[in-house]
Amino acid sequence: MIGRLNHVAIAVPDLDAASAQYRDALGAKVGAPQHEPDHGVTVVFIELPNTKIELLYPLGENSPINGFLEKNPAGGIHHICYEVDDIIAARDHLTSTGARVLGSGEPKIGAHGKPVLFLHPKDFNGCLVELEQV
Ligand code: CO
Repeated sequence: MIGRLNHVAIAVPDLDAASAQYRDALGAKVGAPQHEPDHGVTVVFIELPNTKIELLYPLGENSPINGFLEKNPAGGIHHICYEVDDIIAARDHLTSTGARVLGSGEPKIGAHGKPVLFLHPKDFNGCLVELEQV
């Protein structure tokens, strides 16, 4: 059911420093910061030949990244995103297996302008999983 790895998201305590490191030390193609107020994050997209990395930094006091950075002050992998063809069919299949969908259970429009859902990390070996319909 799942397709390509769309991106790995890394929460970072210093967005400028992390962007500079990916650009200058790792030699990656690093985009400009984008504010996503609906998701409480500022995102920097990094294009790799086979996938993307998203650097996540909190935007606003209610950002979901604030708690993560409190527990992981140096930053860390926040979630991974898999592509699916039909996000409703994927959701219905997953919930039939007992997996929990976060929030209302209805897809939201994600940072790429496409429908996304998040699956409970406790149901996926401690890893927050995002599904994106492509
Ligand atoms: Co994501």
